[in-house]
Amino acid sequence: MTHKVLVLAGDGIGPEIVAEARKVLEALRRGFGLAVELEEGLVGGAAIDATGTPLPEATLRLAREADAVLLGAVGGPKWDDLPSERRPEKGLLGLRGGLGLFANLRPAVLYPELAAASTLRAEVVAGLDMLIVRELTGGIYFGEPRGIRTRPDGVREGVNTMVYSEPEIERIARVAFEAARRRGRRVCSVDKANVLEVSALWREVVTRVAADYPDVELAHMYVDNAAMQLVRAPRQFDVMVTGNLFGDILSDCAAMLTGSIGMLPSASLDAAGKGMYEPIHGSAPDIAGRGVANPLATILSVAMMLRHSLGEGELAGRVEAAVREVLAAGLRTPDIDGGEGTRRVGTKEMGDAVAAA
Ligand code: NAI
Ligand code: MG
Repeated sequence: MTHKVLVLAGDGIGPEIVAEARKVLEALRRGFGLAVELEEGLVGGAAIDATGTPLPEATLRLAREADAVLLGAVGGPKWDDLPSERRPEKGLLGLRGGLGLFANLRPAVLYPELAAASTLRAEVVAGLDMLIVRELTGGIYFGEPRGIRTRPDGVREGVNTMVYSEPEIERIARVAFEAARRRGRRVCSVDKANVLEVSALWREVVTRVAADYPDVELAHMYVDNAAMQLVRAPRQFDVMVTGNLFGDILSDCAAMLTGSIGMLPSASLDAAGKGMYEPIHGSAPDIAGRGVANPLATILSVAMMLRHSLGEGELAGRVEAAVREVLAAGLRTPDIDGGEGTRRVGTKEMGDAVAAA
């Protein structure tokens, strides 16, 4: 079976880093017979310039037909003055919503070669390898009622509502437990059950799902403590599962423990295993067009795509091993602190090296 992948390069450094990810897919095709067919589409600012809208109907259709979507990044100063419903970011939100991508997977891995890049002491983060599973289509970002309203006494108030249904909690919990089975077999569910009713239900449902996974250990943690523990002793975590808002905040925190925004991939999955894969960073307009962006986050997103959507876990492992090999050989893009025995390279050279490895 030939896998169909839609490639959305996007804006800023997007096209530069996606070109390197394509080299890696090409290497897998040549070297290991990976059957993959790549389509291209427009999203974000590039789509606004060409069609007037950040998510053209044609792009959404191609995304629905594909087995997976590989995205660079969207946005940039050129489109900052547009009203919010026409901005590049709407393209991303439209894809997530339109494809039903409810599970956001964000690994935070500290590569031993990059231990010095973390803001935390090396002995605290050495060996960090965790995965945050964030619910992406529910919670306070989407709950009703919402808005800014004026009370009868004339005082204005802002309202958002945190809602989670049992099925929404159950399906994200299952993603977390399945992921834990492929890793360290531990799940930490993060909530605010001491204050929020929605969290009490969350805890109840996650605990019920855990009964189906007797081989996986479940713990619960309040979100404030989880934030503290991430900075105090992050290696205690294997898989962390949480709602949309808590996950947004905690996943950025966990990501930065690794000290390298240019290294971190992500996946957003639907119920059937279709997914959108993208680096966690943005379009980096400050370095776009200079050939210095780190392509590894995008290349590692390809590895996640192979594992989660294409059923090619073995090849995913090869891509990750190739990235480690290249780091071990001392290659560094400028976003990563160099140090002794390292060699500064550009986007293309890094991509070529991974493809070769
Ligand atoms: P950013 O992630 O684009 O950049 C933050 C800093 O990290 C910059 O100094 C940048 O040069 C650096 N950086 C990011 N990726 C890098 C890479 N691969 N290699 C080397 N250095 C890298 O975030 P920022 O500056 O807040 O946003 C820039 C634009 O990107 C905005 O328009 C924003 O809306 C958009 N954005 C898009 C996202 C997406 O497409 N998923 C996510 C976050 C921001
Ligand atoms: Mg965020």
